[in-house]
Amino acid sequence: MTTKDRVLRMLTEENAVSGERLGAELQVSRNAVWKAVSQLRQEGYRIGAAPNRGYRLLSAPDRLTETGIRQYLTTERFGREMEIHDRLDSTNLRAKTLAAHGAPHGFLVAADSQSAGRGRLGRAFYSPEHAGIYMSVVLRPACAPEKASMITSLAAVAAARAVEKLSGADVRIKWVNDLYIGGRKICGILSEAGFGMEAGQLDYVVVGIGVNVRKMEFPPELREIAGSVGNETGCEPDRGRLTAEILNELEKAYGQLETGEFLEESRRRPNVIGRDVLVIRNGEQYPARALEIDDQGRLVVRTEKGTETLGSGEVSLKLR
Ligand code: BTN
Repeated sequence: MTTKDRVLRMLTEENAVSGERLGAELQVSRNAVWKAVSQLRQEGYRIGAAPNRGYRLLSAPDRLTETGIRQYLTTERFGREMEIHDRLDSTNLRAKTLAAHGAPHGFLVAADSQSAGRGRLGRAFYSPEHAGIYMSVVLRPACAPEKASMITSLAAVAAARAVEKLSGADVRIKWVNDLYIGGRKICGILSEAGFGMEAGQLDYVVVGIGVNVRKMEFPPELREIAGSVGNETGCEPDRGRLTAEILNELEKAYGQLETGEFLEESRRRPNVIGRDVLVIRNGEQYPARALEIDDQGRLVVRTEKGTETLGSGEVSLKLR
């Protein structure tokens, strides 16, 4: 952590801190403290300075910043290297390009808005500025491609834990990649894999997570289904902090990829199990009852023809 990040962390945690105490606790000179405060102001943090009380954080910028994320990161690798943009076409596209050029495991790409946010099955993901989190993490799993398909499930558990921690909401997982609060979708996840030259050899997985955070209005075609953490709970978590919490939880859940421990939690947060759904697959739709999530993270359903096990790839579900 740089001096700037540590100064910001102390100012966030305390009401007012003198330059002298900041210097003493961080073991840097008063001049270094002053420089860090100036850098933070340049990034848009409003920091007051009163002669007897010291520095006080008045407001944070309404932008996603590296500093704003870093101060809450507790990971070893995830998000330790990152690229933050005001606007991108898609963080997944950018992360895939970087991954193909050797970006390391845990590399984060995030943007304040996306002009061509990608959803599953070729859909778009609505990504307006200042309103959400649009993030992609490069992963380099040293496991068989079948195991890697569980990455979307573990990312859903990680994002659910992070949103719940900062908002207090009961967050449900609609198998396999959507998070719901109440009856509304507040987050979608899209994992995309890259393969090496040797047949079947997995090179990387980019896991892209989009969370609607602030209170917001949606375009007419999304109004029925989409929600945001702010709209559903009244609470608008700091986006930098939520990004960091997702990375913290993602690193923990990723550590369980081999054992599949996170699947237990996925089963505890269901909003499809026991319900009637419409399975949409290869342009076909048919009714089914969702029964359970198996040990490979697949959904077992009962249809008119018998029991069927659905992998996440080409399937989409509608609640009936
Ligand atoms: C879905 O709901 O179908 C999945 C949506 C995934 C959206 C995220 S936002 C960050 C990342 N970049 C993208 O272009 N898509 C994912």
